[in-house]
Amino acid sequence: NFLSLIETKRDGGRHSPEEIAGIIRELVAGKLPDYQVAAWLMAVYFRGFDREELSALTMAMRDSGERLEFPDDPRPLVDKHSTGGVGDKVSLPLAPLLVALGFRVPMISGRALGITGGTLDKLESIPGFTTRLTKEQIVRQVQEIGVAMAGQTEHMVPADRILYAMRDVTGTVPSLPLITASILSKKLAESLDALVLDVKFGAAAFMKSREEAEALGRTMVELATDCGVTTRFVLNDMNQPLGRAVGNWLEVKESVDCLEGRGPEDLRKLVLECAAHLLEMTGRVGGFEEGLRRAASTLDSGAPLQCWERLLLSQGANLDTFRRKLAEPAPAGIRWELRSRTGGRLTCIDARLIGELLRRSGAGRLRQADRIRWDVGVECAIKAGRTVAQGDLLAHIHAANESEARELGSELASAFVVEPSV
Ligand code: URA
Repeated sequence: NFLSLIETKRDGGRHSPEEIAGIIRELVAGKLPDYQVAAWLMAVYFRGFDREELSALTMAMRDSGERLEFPDDPRPLVDKHSTGGVGDKVSLPLAPLLVALGFRVPMISGRALGITGGTLDKLESIPGFTTRLTKEQIVRQVQEIGVAMAGQTEHMVPADRILYAMRDVTGTVPSLPLITASILSKKLAESLDALVLDVKFGAAAFMKSREEAEALGRTMVELATDCGVTTRFVLNDMNQPLGRAVGNWLEVKESVDCLEGRGPEDLRKLVLECAAHLLEMTGRVGGFEEGLRRAASTLDSGAPLQCWERLLLSQGANLDTFRRKLAEPAPAGIRWELRSRTGGRLTCIDARLIGELLRRSGAGRLRQADRIRWDVGVECAIKAGRTVAQGDLLAHIHAANESEARELGSELASAFVVEPSV
């Protein structure tokens, strides 16, 4: 009787582990109507879960499908997952870097969630690239080339596949237990040796304050560690976009810049930090600083870029088509200049507003059936902290045509906060 469970949670009661396992079983069997699942998610959002409920939900979601099993191999199995950000494309350059550092990376990712971008949607902006892989394909590819980047399926963490898509459009994403269970169900199904979690806080993150983000990080680390996976979390500010590009395809392009040793410094720094943590956690280096140096020299060696290209080929992309698209200046149709109306100091680039506007423009979803527009997006021309003169370029807007670009630009302008210099 799912209705009585919804009422229990609505009224602040708790579920037993058996009840939670039952909910997940029925959910995956397609026996729960969407409207009741949505109501239950909202009740969980407001009432929360205690530690036992959280653990039961995470395990039930992990076990809702098959777990990946890998043959013995000297290369440790590692992964990184972010709680969600705007412009956060770290997974794309990081995964091939980790392979070049001697790891195996079986990465199960998600789609855009709320105003934040999703690795799967970004990867699918690459012509031909498929994120739909079977368990056998993932294991084979990881053994052969070191990495696979795939999504949840009917057979792999199907419970997260269903709940993730529903949370995205029911306003139930920013919940500590729901985020924890969503992330860890995927990561624990990967049979990892080590995991690093990038926990974001700030206006464009699901956790607005540093304290909330810390609580989320600690909860995930404790639960993952209890399950035998060496786990760490890093805290990162998500008030401003990471890097310069926001939008699925533009973020792929910026990831390639990073792999080519170019691209924004904040992106490179976070990629190297995640790699250094994993190197240190798996005992591959004596300390974090040595990990950073090893990661930087490996990134600059070009080996991760070659691994990225192997990944693309292996998951269905054609490299010539990919490179042609990389060279296109305006893949969405038009590349339009947003210029500063005033002079002064650019004190902030509001990632929350950029995320909201791009989701509305089709880079994310407002309803489950919405089709993603891969190529719309924004490329910031400068980072916050710089002085600008009236008329200076702030960003390029990628849109279908000039009227769409103008409309988006008129709202996006207020994301770039320019304060008069004194
Ligand atoms: N990433 C996930 O996989 N799930 C969440 O709930 C948030 C970020």
